[in-house]
Amino acid sequence: MSLNILLVGGTGSIGRHVARIATEAGHPVRVLSRRGGDVTGDLTDPSTLTDAVDGVDAVVFTHGTHGDEAGFRDVDYGGVRGVLEAIGDRPVRIALMTAIGVTYRGGYNTSNRAHDWKRRGERLVRASGHPYTIVRPGWFDYNDDDQHELVFLQGDTRTAGSPADGVIARAQIAQVLVSALTSDAAVGKTFELVAEHGPAQSDLDPLFAALVPDTGLDGALDADTQPLSEEPASVLADLERIRALAG
Ligand SMILES: NC(=O)c1ccc[n+]([C@@H]2O[C@H](COP(=O)([O-])OP(=O)(O)OC[C@H]3O[C@@H](n4cnc5c(N)ncnc54)[C@H](OP(=O)(O)O)[C@@H]3O)[C@@H](O)[C@H]2O)c1
Repeated sequence: MSLNILLVGGTGSIGRHVARIATEAGHPVRVLSRRGGDVTGDLTDPSTLTDAVDGVDAVVFTHGTHGDEAGFRDVDYGGVRGVLEAIGDRPVRIALMTAIGVTYRGGYNTSNRAHDWKRRGERLVRASGHPYTIVRPGWFDYNDDDQHELVFLQGDTRTAGSPADGVIARAQIAQVLVSALTSDAAVGKTFELVAEHGPAQSDLDPLFAALVPDTGLDGALDADTQPLSEEPASVLADLERIRALAG
């Protein structure tokens, strides 16, 4: 099955691998970027996203910022919201990359609330009604030479905030995101992705199939560390608006 893919963050360190692997798999890929992509758009300006979503069957999100809370709010979260709004009620397959430890709100997260905003982005995707897969990778490219085996975890219990939480190669993340798009077994699943010592798997369907599906706004086995009752009114309003788009 060939899908017209919009790749949000396709010029980034993970996105470049997604573009290559998706193209090799026969999917036409359209890279969104502020500069240098196939379609120009700024995630902080929803009015620039309309052309980007025209005619797409799937969206892969690998975008992100590094810095202050406003960036995580406006890009990591706001970008998901803006693209979902631009898509409207057309059914689109979604693969969203966030991060391992996204449900952990203490320690290293308190300075910029990055996790809170990424988790809110996850919730928008779950509320959207689109078939989705959410991938929370471990630490990029800290793999030993023989760490080729993919391991999917749930419950998001690794919260050290260091490679001790698990490692994963950028190309492995891209392989999982692209594979998820055409796997029925990956629909409605959220998981942490790490690599362990061992050989690479050629078929990821058994890994997707073994996961517990999500049933609500959070990952299936996530702890309720960010209750809706404590969320800002603007975030709750975003959730309602995205839910309503699904009809
Ligand atoms: N390092 C780790 O171990 C680790 C582990 C788990 C998760 N993560 C998360 O992974 C995410 C991505 O990391 P990365 O290293 O791939 O990032 P990166 O190389 O800096 O790429 C960021 C991407 O986001 C896009 N982007 C940023 N702001 C944008 C805007 N306003 N409008 C449109 N596109 C925008 C950039 O596009 P243009 O600049 O071309 O517009 C670029 O394609 C980060 O959020 C990070 O928190 C990292």
